[in-house]
Amino acid sequence: MPNGLVAVDMTQPVTPLTATYVSADAHGDENVLQLRQEELPPPGPGQVRLVVKAIGVNPVDLKIRQGMRGRGPVPFRLGAEVAGVVEAVGPDVSTVAVGDEVIAFRVDGGYASALLVPADDVVPKPASLPWSEAAGLLLAGATAIHTLEATGVGEGDVVLLHGAAGAVGQAVIQLAVDRGARVIGTASPRNHDLLRELGAYPIAYGEGLRERVAAAAEEVGEPTAAIDAAGTDEALALSLALVERERIATIMVRPAAIESGIKALGGGPGADPGTEIRAAARAPLAQLAREGRLKVRVVKELPLAEVREAHRFVAENHAAGKVVLLP
Ligand SMILES: NC(=O)c1ccc[n+]([C@@H]2O[C@H](COP(=O)([O-])OP(=O)(O)OC[C@H]3O[C@@H](n4cnc5c(N)ncnc54)[C@H](OP(=O)(O)O)[C@@H]3O)[C@@H](O)[C@H]2O)c1
Repeated sequence: MPNGLVAVDMTQPVTPLTATYVSADAHGDENVLQLRQEELPPPGPGQVRLVVKAIGVNPVDLKIRQGMRGRGPVPFRLGAEVAGVVEAVGPDVSTVAVGDEVIAFRVDGGYASALLVPADDVVPKPASLPWSEAAGLLLAGATAIHTLEATGVGEGDVVLLHGAAGAVGQAVIQLAVDRGARVIGTASPRNHDLLRELGAYPIAYGEGLRERVAAAAEEVGEPTAAIDAAGTDEALALSLALVERERIATIMVRPAAIESGIKALGGGPGADPGTEIRAAARAPLAQLAREGRLKVRVVKELPLAEVREAHRFVAENHAAGKVVLLP
C-alpha cells in the first residue's frame, strides 16, 4: 500500500451494536432472569455478529438457571440455539457473508437480540424454514441423532421411546422412521394423534406400561432398542427388561442410569457428551428440514421480555413441542 496507507473495507461495520440480553443474576427460580443491554463490539477473527430472529428454549436452560449443572460465577447467560441474520463478519471469515440467514448452535448466551458467535457454529437456514422452527431445530435434533447412533438404530428396528411427545422425542420418531425403523412411543393420550402423525405407535406412560408395550409389540414388533427421554424409573426398568443394555440410551443422566450400564448421553458425570457427533449433525439436520423430512413443532412463541413466562411453561414438562423467544 503506497504512502503507508492501510486499506479499510468499508463494507464492514466497525461500530458497536446495542443488544438486549437476558442475564441470570443468580441461580434460582425464573425471577433471577433480568433483561439488560450492552454494546456488542465488531466481530473478531473467526466470529460473526448475528441479529437474532428467534431463540430456542430448552429444559437444560432451566436446569442451568437452577444450578443443577453446577454453580459457576454469577451473573451468567442462557441460550444454546438461535436463528438470525449475519450482520457483520470477522476479518478472516469467508464461510458466511453479511445478510446470510443462519442457525447457530451451540452458542453461549443465545437469549439476546444480537450476539457474537464463532463462524464455525453456524449453518445456513433453509429458506423455507420459518425462523421459530429454525431456532428449535438443532439442539433437539442433534440429541436425537446422538441417541439413534448410540443405539445403532436402522432398518427393521423397533424403538421403544419414552418421552415421545417432547421436542427430542418428536425428532427421534421422525429420524428413526426415516432410517426404516418403527417406533413405539409413550405420551399422554392427548398427544397420541400427534405421535401417529409423526409415524409412531402411541401408548400412554404410567401404570400398566409393560402390558401396553406388549400389546403394541403384537402390532409393531418386539422392541430391539430403547431410548429414554423421560427419565422415569418405569422407563429405565422396562427398557432393561425388554432390550439388551448396549441398545438402550438415555438423555436423562442420573446415577441409576449410569449404574445400570446403559448409554448415558449428554451432560453430566459419566455420560458421553457426543460433542463431535452433535456438531456434525447440524448440516444434515438443516438438510432434512429443508426436504420436509424433519419437522419442528413450535407450541409457543413469546417476546424475549417474557422469558420468565417461557421458563414457567417449560417447567410444567408437557410442552409437546418447542417454546421460542422472539427478540
Ligand atoms: N442429555 C442430553 O443431551 C439432553 C438433550 C436434550 C434434552 N435433554 C433432556 O431431556 C428431557 C426432554 O427434553 P425435551 O427438549 O424433549 O423436553 P420437552 O420438549 O419439554 O418434553 C416434554 C415432554 O415430556 C413428556 N413427559 C413428561 N413426563 C413424562 C413421563 N413420565 N413419561 C413420558 N413422557 C413424559 C411430556 O409428554 P406429554 O405432554 O405427552 O405428557 C412432554 O410433552 C429434558 O429433561 C431435557 O433436559 C437432555
